[in-house]
Amino acid sequence: MYTTLLAAAFALRGANAWGTLGHETVAFIAQHYVSNHTAAWAQSILSNDSASYLAGVATWADSYRYTAEGKFSAPFHYIDAEDSPPTSCNVDFERDCGSEGCVVSAIANYTTRVQAANVSAEQRDYALRFLVHFIGDITQPLHDEALEVGGNDIDVTFNGTATNLHHIWDTNMPEELRGGYSLKDAAAWAVNLTAEIDSGVYQNQTASWVAGLDVNDAKATALRWATDANAFVCSVVLPDGEAAINGTETYPAYYDSAIGTIEVQIAKAGVRLAAWLDALAAGNKTVAHAYAGRRSLPVDVSGREFLPEPRELSVAKLKRAAIGWGCGHQH
Ligand SMILES: *[C@@H]1O[C@H](CO)[C@@H](O)[C@H](O)[C@H]1NC(C)=O
Ligand SMILES: *[C@@H]1O[C@H](CO)[C@@H](O)[C@H](O)[C@H]1NC(C)=O
Ligand SMILES: *[C@@H]1O[C@H](CO)[C@@H](O)[C@H](O)[C@H]1NC(C)=O
Ligand SMILES: *[C@@H]1O[C@H](CO)[C@@H](O)[C@H](O)[C@H]1NC(C)=O
Ligand SMILES: *[C@@H]1O[C@H](CO)[C@@H](O)[C@H](O)[C@H]1NC(C)=O
Ligand SMILES: *[C@@H]1O[C@H](CO)[C@@H](O)[C@H](O)[C@H]1NC(C)=O
Ligand SMILES: *[C@@H]1O[C@H](CO)[C@@H](O)[C@H](O)[C@H]1NC(C)=O
Ligand SMILES: *[C@@H]1O[C@H](CO)[C@@H](O)[C@H](O)[C@H]1NC(C)=O
Ligand SMILES: *[C@@H]1O[C@H](CO)[C@@H](O)[C@H](O)[C@H]1NC(C)=O
Ligand SMILES: [Zn+2]
Repeated sequence: MYTTLLAAAFALRGANAWGTLGHETVAFIAQHYVSNHTAAWAQSILSNDSASYLAGVATWADSYRYTAEGKFSAPFHYIDAEDSPPTSCNVDFERDCGSEGCVVSAIANYTTRVQAANVSAEQRDYALRFLVHFIGDITQPLHDEALEVGGNDIDVTFNGTATNLHHIWDTNMPEELRGGYSLKDAAAWAVNLTAEIDSGVYQNQTASWVAGLDVNDAKATALRWATDANAFVCSVVLPDGEAAINGTETYPAYYDSAIGTIEVQIAKAGVRLAAWLDALAAGNKTVAHAYAGRRSLPVDVSGREFLPEPRELSVAKLKRAAIGWGCGHQH
């Protein structure tokens, strides 16, 4: 089982939302900012007190969704905003979240589940792993966009390599910036971004990244995050529309126009994840009972309250269904 998961994760590297590098960097940034109480809370849930306790599980959700058990979670990595970039960008939950769920409902569901008294230790562990991953995914603009299956169907080249727009945002551009995708590369990127957050170029905007954050209204908070990232689809991802980028070389001119946004979004996700976990852990001061969380009550843990009204599948959602609700084609 373990080797199967590892093999799947390896084979699919690059088919993730933010690749391995992006997700692990988000997790390292969060590890840097969480309180000691939160760290102990998370380590107890994950049964792991290593120096990479969050980074080590940051891409788990991308391997889990390729298992028979985890297949149901494939649509949770994105929300298909059916807007019209570059003229109009927006997210409408009832229009855009699929009836099986989306990244917004998933963040709400796993926020409830990580705190609920009536989930198993394994399910609480999974809930935390999902949160670490999805709070990263939701900041990738193309994870908040339906057009061409989140850009997967827009072919481009990156320094001569044939790929697609979604993939260069997830993987090629972050790796080009940092020169690799190992855990060490992620840790080093996190050191750079936390320095920029504490006293550099991001210092004057980090408060806006967590404005309105409310763990008691996770759905509204996640929808705000999806809307924030989706706006970049119009301004940075497709400023001149789809036809202008279709089939073009994206290095170095497009890369230069996009990389600053990628760095901001990774930094933002790390800061939000830390604030989210701090708020979740704050409710329970007893580390010995850290698993219990602020709600520590039996609650409905199905998540059905977070789903949109059922409706017929739109053309964009039929396309997603045809690729198994994937968020990236395999390469
Ligand atoms: C948090 O933990 C670190 C290392 O584990 C320690 O150096 C630091 O003093 C702790 N901070 C507080 C406020 O207890
Ligand atoms: C804890 O996490 C680290 C980093 O991901 C991993 O190498 C280690 O195997 C984990 N330990 C346990 C007991 O799972
Ligand atoms: C672009 O590709 C060429 C040829 O494969 C390679 O030599 C070069 O290092 C690459 N440049 C960058 C910036 O990745
Ligand atoms: C972060 O890395 C960039 C290069 O990507 C560099 O220009 C910047 O000075 C670094 N920031 C800090 C605070 O080290
Ligand atoms: C932050 O400061 C920079 C100049 O250092 C400025 O360009 C930018 O508009 C400021 N951002 C905010 C949100 O105040
Ligand atoms: C993108 O280019 C391909 C191949 O040239 C073409 O078939 C397709 O219609 C183009 N799509 C758009 C939206 O321009
Ligand atoms: C912390 O968890 C324990 C064990 O479930 C519970 O008895 C206690 O009430 C919780 N404390 C808070 C503040 O939620
Ligand atoms: C959890 O408890 C709630 C409230 O008692 C109940 O409605 C729900 O069915 C329980 N779910 C599980 C999985 O135990
Ligand atoms: C909530 O999470 C559970 C466990 O992963 C899953 O079975 C359920 O489908 C999720 N509900 C929603 C609405 O996402
Ligand atoms: Zn993902």
